[in-house]
Amino acid sequence: MDYLTRHTILKYGRSVLCSEEFRSTFSQVHHYSTTVGDHLLGVTAEAVKQCRARGLTDDDTLKTVVLAALCHDIGIMGRQKKYRNDAECLIRHPLDSVRAYIRITGEADERVIDSIKCHMFPLKPAVPKYKAGWILTVADKICSVNEKFGKSPVTEEDRKELLIPG
Ligand SMILES: [Fe+2]
Ligand SMILES: [Fe+2]
Repeated sequence: MDYLTRHTILKYGRSVLCSEEFRSTFSQVHHYSTTVGDHLLGVTAEAVKQCRARGLTDDDTLKTVVLAALCHDIGIMGRQKKYRNDAECLIRHPLDSVRAYIRITGEADERVIDSIKCHMFPLKPAVPKYKAGWILTVADKICSVNEKFGKSPVTEEDRKELLIPG
């Protein structure tokens, strides 16, 4: 991940990155070869890259995209215990992630909420209403495919730089 991407994630996502709840996501395996935490960081980096490629670099858009991407799968933590099967997980984890976003940031931005809620499109047929949601959906798919081929989304250095204390 390049310097500008890391800087952007830190600038807008500090409250999430510093939270205990986010930090706990590095303990659960995701897509066979990574952890939920690495996936969240990887998707956020990819989403920032997608914003830059489209010239969407205003504060408002970047903040929406970074917060939505960092939180989009937090609700999947503990999936083995709380969901009966994969179908229930598919339907419920975006909603549980919305709750995590509100709990962690104390904010409830409609664009962040909709983007998180609709990130499983088209597997879950809820269509994103905002540009940020489409960017998150695309970034999530790109990272998920890479992860299934064993490509790690982040390096040890990325983790160290982004998970600085408080
Ligand atoms: Fe997801
Ligand atoms: Fe995801």
